Amino acid sequence: MFKPTQVKQQEKLEEKSKLDTEKREVKQIEKAPKITKELVEEEKAYRRGTLTIRDLIAPASMQVRPDHLRLGEKFVRTIFVIGYPRYISVGWFAPIINMSTTFDVAMFFYPVKSALILKQLKKRVGALEAQIIADAEKGAARDPLRETALRDIEALRDALTQGTEKFFQFALYVTIYAEDKDELDNLTDQIEDIIGSRLVFSKKVFFQAEQGFNSTLPLANDELSVTFNMNSSPAASSFPFISSELTSDNGILYGINRHNNSLILFDRFSLQNANSVVFATSGAGKSYAIKLEVMRSLMMGTDVIIIDPEHEYKHMSDAVGGTYINISLASENKINPFDLPSAIAGGAKPEDIIRSAVITIKGLIRLMLGELTHEEDSIVDRALLETYAKKDITATSDLSKVEVPIMQDFQDILEGMEGGADLALRLRKYTLGTFAGLFNSPTNVKMDNQLVCFSVRDLEDELRPIAIYDIITYIWNVVRSEMKKRILVIDEAWWLMQHEDSAKFIYALVKRCRKYYLGVTTITQDVNDFLTSPYGKAIVTNSSLQLLMKQSPAAIDLIQKTFVLTEGEKYLLLESALGEGIFFAGMKHAAIKVVASYTEDQLITSDPRQLLEIEEAKKEFAEQMESEEGAGAEGQEPENMSNMET
Ligand SMILES: Nc1ncnc2c1ncn2[C@@H]1O[C@H](COP(=O)(O)OP(=O)(O)OP(=O)(O)O)[C@@H](O)[C@H]1O
Ligand SMILES: [Mg+2]
Repeated sequence: MFKPTQVKQQEKLEEKSKLDTEKREVKQIEKAPKITKELVEEEKAYRRGTLTIRDLIAPASMQVRPDHLRLGEKFVRTIFVIGYPRYISVGWFAPIINMSTTFDVAMFFYPVKSALILKQLKKRVGALEAQIIADAEKGAARDPLRETALRDIEALRDALTQGTEKFFQFALYVTIYAEDKDELDNLTDQIEDIIGSRLVFSKKVFFQAEQGFNSTLPLANDELSVTFNMNSSPAASSFPFISSELTSDNGILYGINRHNNSLILFDRFSLQNANSVVFATSGAGKSYAIKLEVMRSLMMGTDVIIIDPEHEYKHMSDAVGGTYINISLASENKINPFDLPSAIAGGAKPEDIIRSAVITIKGLIRLMLGELTHEEDSIVDRALLETYAKKDITATSDLSKVEVPIMQDFQDILEGMEGGADLALRLRKYTLGTFAGLFNSPTNVKMDNQLVCFSVRDLEDELRPIAIYDIITYIWNVVRSEMKKRILVIDEAWWLMQHEDSAKFIYALVKRCRKYYLGVTTITQDVNDFLTSPYGKAIVTNSSLQLLMKQSPAAIDLIQKTFVLTEGEKYLLLESALGEGIFFAGMKHAAIKVVASYTEDQLITSDPRQLLEIEEAKKEFAEQMESEEGAGAEGQEPENMSNMET
């Protein structure tokens, strides 16, 4: 039932509650400032008790003295440059940068409007010319100083007007840090001497120690304001990184320059040839450095082929999706030494191709059979040509359509030849005997991957040089067939330097590969053997890139002679730590430290302890994935069931 009084009551009640809430809100607002203030105080008190990064890095105290600061335990002083000579060479500042002490350098460049300078220069020219004319009228001797100044100014006026030069006010400050006052004074003298020897004049701060320190903080805050007028070329010559030649725009990171902590970035294909040699004692980090180079080169699109006698590139190869080919007596992979390149860039004649193949195979036969007499040599030569001819491979054939012979064919020919029976008998070991199978079948490996590794670890020591020779012949054929940017890494190259024929072969390869866009990296720990061999030495001279790491005292003298090292560099190599050495690129060289990122390190390490850990982590991960998959499948079922029920 509808009752008007009830409605009124209801309205009153509503009004009252509205008023109440309003009152409450007002009260709350009145109370609020108090609460906020308390909160702020509390927050402040809390913050006072916590550490910030600023607290951590700030020195405990700072004391300002007339000519230096004491920053906690350290003594700090700033030196500023006040004047430069008329002529200054590029990189004059580098000796300071390369000093192995702690210091901060600040350079300020204040651009000045060219018009302003031109006006000033015009006035100077007027004054100088007037003086010169006056001298001439008086019949006085000419003044070379004035004439030089006039010429300099005129040249500068031209350059500024043409816009090839800009004008700056340039400020250069160096702040040094020392443990005590004596050291600070010594260091100051040292720096002033080095700068002074370039006829650059400097002074140390006096009653401006704090301003000096502030000016060299990375805040772009010049509180000293001691500037010198300069145009762009001399200002640029103060740029400190002269080892920039080892830092090029393109290429890959080889390591850190230990002289000045800059990066050694280099593109080996920008040099005369792209070959490189790496020498160091066992365990110095040769393979590690090259694996890093390989991974980084792959990223830049270079193809890489590796000959791996230690089975240590497998992990990396798997990680980057490379092809890993195991060559052994038991493996399925075969390479036929009689292969011919399908086509040669530049279109060589079949005649030349066959001749060069015969010479290469003869080298292999000599490795297999040992020294050959002159008669035997000519028999082998003739037999090889006949072996090819038997398969219709002659000077007139189209090499892309032929079927190449195998070792058995060669042996058959030898047996049928006068005086060849003995050779055939010696060769039987490789066609029928224990070593059969490795060299006596058509090639069935393919190199159609960006990274291809050939492992020869599982081969008998005796067979290893022969197999590597065979593999490199094959690679050489592929390289000549298709032009591509490629790197061939031959790890433990001393296997090949043991025999003259294989050493000669590598040398020929290193000498000729530039034309096919290939760079060969030879890694060896047997420095003495390598460098005393004439072929080894020639390989070094034909390699523009050289990496020397820790050397043994037994080998250091030979190394020093070969690479023309100073005494300092000699000791640097003797005392090098893991991954440290000297990096040569053409004529330039620098001390290097090879560094890898964590991920890279995980992929390339050969430390057995680390490898075991990685294997275990892999296993754990696989198990975890499995159990998660299982749990996921089980968990899904009931849910579906309940869905169906509803
Ligand atoms: N720059 C580096 N940083 C960290 N670890 C490194 C570095 N260089 C090498 N190592 C580690 O040192 C060990 C030896 O390195 P590596 O296998 O490259 O030696 P090697 O000179 O090739 O020796 P060998 O001549 O016996 O093949 C490896 O366990 C590798 O992980
Ligand atoms: Mg190695």
